[in-house]
Amino acid sequence: MLPLVKVAMPPRDDLMPALEQVLYSGMIGEGEAVYEFEREFASHFSLPNSLAVSSGTAALHLALLLSGVEVGDEVITTSMTAEPTNTTILQAGATPVFADVDPTTGNLDPEDVAACVTRRTRAICVVHYAGYPARLDRLRVIADNHGLALIEDCAHALGARFGGQPIGTIGDFSIFSLQAIKHMTTVDGGVLTMRDPALLAEARRLRWFGLSRGVPRTEVDISKAGFKYNMNNVAATIGLQQLRHIAPLIDRHKSNGRFLDTALSALPAARPPRIPNGSEPSYWLYTLLADDSDAVEALMAGIGVSASKLHRPNHLHSVFTAFRRPLPGLDAFYRRLVHMPCGWWVDDAMLQRITRTLLSGA
Ligand SMILES: Cc1ncc(COP(=O)(O)O)c(C=O)c1O
Repeated sequence: MLPLVKVAMPPRDDLMPALEQVLYSGMIGEGEAVYEFEREFASHFSLPNSLAVSSGTAALHLALLLSGVEVGDEVITTSMTAEPTNTTILQAGATPVFADVDPTTGNLDPEDVAACVTRRTRAICVVHYAGYPARLDRLRVIADNHGLALIEDCAHALGARFGGQPIGTIGDFSIFSLQAIKHMTTVDGGVLTMRDPALLAEARRLRWFGLSRGVPRTEVDISKAGFKYNMNNVAATIGLQQLRHIAPLIDRHKSNGRFLDTALSALPAARPPRIPNGSEPSYWLYTLLADDSDAVEALMAGIGVSASKLHRPNHLHSVFTAFRRPLPGLDAFYRRLVHMPCGWWVDDAMLQRITRTLLSGA
C-alpha cells in the first residue's frame, strides 16, 4: 500500500558520517549541534527566535506557560487535531474551550472563536490542520482585541505560508513537530518560536529544569521549576542533515497538492477544502471532503493507496467529556473527511492513477 505518511532520511553518505561523528564525540547531550540546528532552522524557514526542544508536545506546553496560561484559565482551541494540542492545555491546568471549525476547511471558525471569549480566556491555540493554514488574519485581530496570546500549532504545516508570510510568524508563539512522520524529522523533536525575543531566556530555562545554562551548577539558582524538554546533539545532527535536503521534499508536497486540487475540482460528489485567499498550504496530508468518504477510501484501497481519517476529534475522548459542546461544523467536516498521501513518495504516475480512479468512480 502507498502509505499516508512516510519518513524521509538524508542520503546515507551525508547522514551516517555526521551521526558517527557526533555519537563518538563524547558530547551527545544538548550542545553546539543543537544551537547550530536552531540557527539553521530559523534561517531556512525565516522563523526568528527558534528554540529546539524534545517534541512538538514539549513546545506546546512551553508556549502555553510562556503565554501566561495558569491553572483555571481558558484556552480556546480546536478539537480537529492530534491530541497533544489539547492534552497540553490540561497539563497546564487550564480548560480547553472547543470552538467550532469551518466545515469547508476543518480549521477554527473565527466567528465561533470570538463567541467563545470570556473573562477567563488567556490564549487561542490554532492548528493548521493537515498543513492547510487557518484564518490567521482574523484570529490575530480577535487575539489583539481581547489581549490574548495566539499560539500557532504548526505541527502539520512546516513550509506553509499565510498572507505572504511564513507559517508560524503571525502568532505570538508557534510550535513545530519533528516527530517521525512529519514533513521533516529528527526522529523525535520539536521547535518553539516566539515573537518576543525577550522571552527566549525564560524559554531556555523552562526547557532545562529551570536552570540557566552557562552558570556553574553549584552556583545556579532555580526560581521556577522547569522541565526536561531539551533537544540532544544526536537529534540535532539528524536535523541539520535534514535541513540540507528538505526544500525539494516540501516543494513536492505542495506541487502534488496543487495538482490534486486542480484535477479533483471537477468531482461531482467530493471536493478539496476551500483554500482562503493568501493561504499557501504545505499539504502534509492531502484532504478531500466527500459525500461518501467510505466509498473514496474503498476506491483508493482498490489501487493500493492508503486513504483514511487520521485523528479522532479530541472532544470525543473521555478525558475531555466535561468540555464537550455542540460542534456542527466539525461534525460536517469529519463526516466528509478523507486524507490521501501527497508527499514526495507519490510520483506523477500515481497522481494520474489516483485522479483517474476518483474521476471515474467517486
Ligand atoms: C497537530 C499536532 N500538534 C502537536 C503534535 C505533537 O508533536 P510531537 O509528536 O512532536 O510531540 C502533533 C503530533 O503528534 C500534532 O499532529
